[in-house]
Amino acid sequence: MSSGDVLKKDDVTLDLALRPSRWDEYIGQEKIKNNLRILIEAAQKRGEPIEHVLLYGPAGLGKTTLAHLVGREMGTTMKVTSGPAIEKAGDLAAILTNMEEGGVLFIDEAHRIHKVVEEMLYPAMESSTLDIILGKGPSAKTIQLHLPRFTIIAATTRAGLLSSPFRSRFGATHRLDFYREEEIERIIRRSAALLKARVNDDAVKTIARASRFTPRVANRILKRVRDYAQVHNMTPVTRAVAQKALAVLEVDAIGLETTDVRILEAIITKYGGGPVGLKSVAASTSEEVETIEDVYEPYLLQIGFLSRSPKGRIATKHAYEHLGIPYHDKDKQGLLL
Ligand code: ADE
Repeated sequence: MSSGDVLKKDDVTLDLALRPSRWDEYIGQEKIKNNLRILIEAAQKRGEPIEHVLLYGPAGLGKTTLAHLVGREMGTTMKVTSGPAIEKAGDLAAILTNMEEGGVLFIDEAHRIHKVVEEMLYPAMESSTLDIILGKGPSAKTIQLHLPRFTIIAATTRAGLLSSPFRSRFGATHRLDFYREEEIERIIRRSAALLKARVNDDAVKTIARASRFTPRVANRILKRVRDYAQVHNMTPVTRAVAQKALAVLEVDAIGLETTDVRILEAIITKYGGGPVGLKSVAASTSEEVETIEDVYEPYLLQIGFLSRSPKGRIATKHAYEHLGIPYHDKDKQGLLL
């Protein structure tokens, strides 16, 4: 397995066995859970579907899982799709006309919804109607379909890319934050129990520190550590075993992968520590701008290794220290190359 696998951006296959299926199993994000429960209870008392919900924040923090919990709590089925998967107006019409009354439609990657589809969604979200244009030119006709009342739960890593008319149609908008280390430890203990893996307390802490405060990463590392321990007959998993497994995964003690290190080193050695635009960083590291923004940068910002300025990204003193590059040399770095 390559280091990239630990964090792969496209890897949205949440492990069903580990996904919480009840509210009390979902650890962390307390404010959001409270708000969603109020939204649900109030809607149920009124006998209405809940308002549309927008969940945003870094990948792997549990947006899909929360949406599933809402669907379950509402006692309805949830259909799952994603922005790019709805290619044409007809695709959306097919989905919406098949919704059940009070049903939930989960749209992942909402920032990638096509413009025509987004515009069709406005009346659907506001008044459960769908305007369909038949034909082209002067003879074109619009017919209006009445849809069952339903709820959209949209998820995105990039709320800033949503248009304001779209954003304003959500009755509730919540930003998921990185988890606290203690919460990640609880998630790892719960997952280890479900996987029947014996992992001691020190090892749980070691995995938690390398998990980028992100449950999806924590669960994935836990599984790879368990594999390593199994193959080498090293159970229960101790701190030393976890550290060895992390070394094989090329994940360091605080969760940095080789790509994170390459990004920081490029900013420091090629651009004197910044500020430097993301496009230049992407070119220097042969990564996509979007991958850096979605996968790597949020955690580097969170731990204070990167900061953003109007002129671009800046590597901070913490980043220099972690990489063992003297900070007082900062102004010379760009000139050396
Ligand atoms: N697995 C993934 N996210 C989780 C969470 N927030 N709580 C418990 N288990 C999880």
